[in-house]
Amino acid sequence: MAADIETRTDIEVLLRRFYGRALVDDLLAVPFNEVREQGLESHLPVMCDFWETVLFGAGLYRGSALRVHERVRDRHPLGTEHFERWLSLWHETVDAMYAGPRADRAKAQGAGIAAAMNRRLLGLPSAAAEAVRAGAAQLPVMRAR
Ligand code: HEM
Repeated sequence: MAADIETRTDIEVLLRRFYGRALVDDLLAVPFNEVREQGLESHLPVMCDFWETVLFGAGLYRGSALRVHERVRDRHPLGTEHFERWLSLWHETVDAMYAGPRADRAKAQGAGIAAAMNRRLLGLPSAAAEAVRAGAAQLPVMRAR
């Protein structure tokens, strides 16, 4: 039985594996170009802050993930298929490494945030997406600066 996510190091190991796949994914490699160019090492501390905040309420991430992804979308066309691929890779990676309430929370939060980004960045009309958005908007990470 796999262990649950307990520490920042657990998050970092998870993220390294996730980006190891996402950066070379046939669909995600292009929109993730900036991360490849800047280097994963400069991106990882921000991502660890983000997930420590989402999973442990650490309050370390004070940026606006939505604003950052508006810029990603402006540089590369993003569609629902990108968010679906992001989410399936995220779920697969979490499931391959961890099990327990925090792993479940990582998957649920990833799904909620991906749906909210998809809805807000692409302006999709959907009552279900709107409900998810309303929930995710309460998270500090989704609040506009
Ligand atoms: C289609 C899916 C996605 C793509 C292509 C994508 C791509 C990117 C890229 C290129 C950056 C770096 C931007 C820059 O520094 O200029 C970034 C940053 C980031 N991404 Fe994503 N992303 C996706 C989905 C997500 C999701 C679903 C989450 C959260 C669950 C997320 C969380 C973050 C965070 C926290 C940052 C750092 C924000 C900051 O610097 O303040 N991303 N993403």
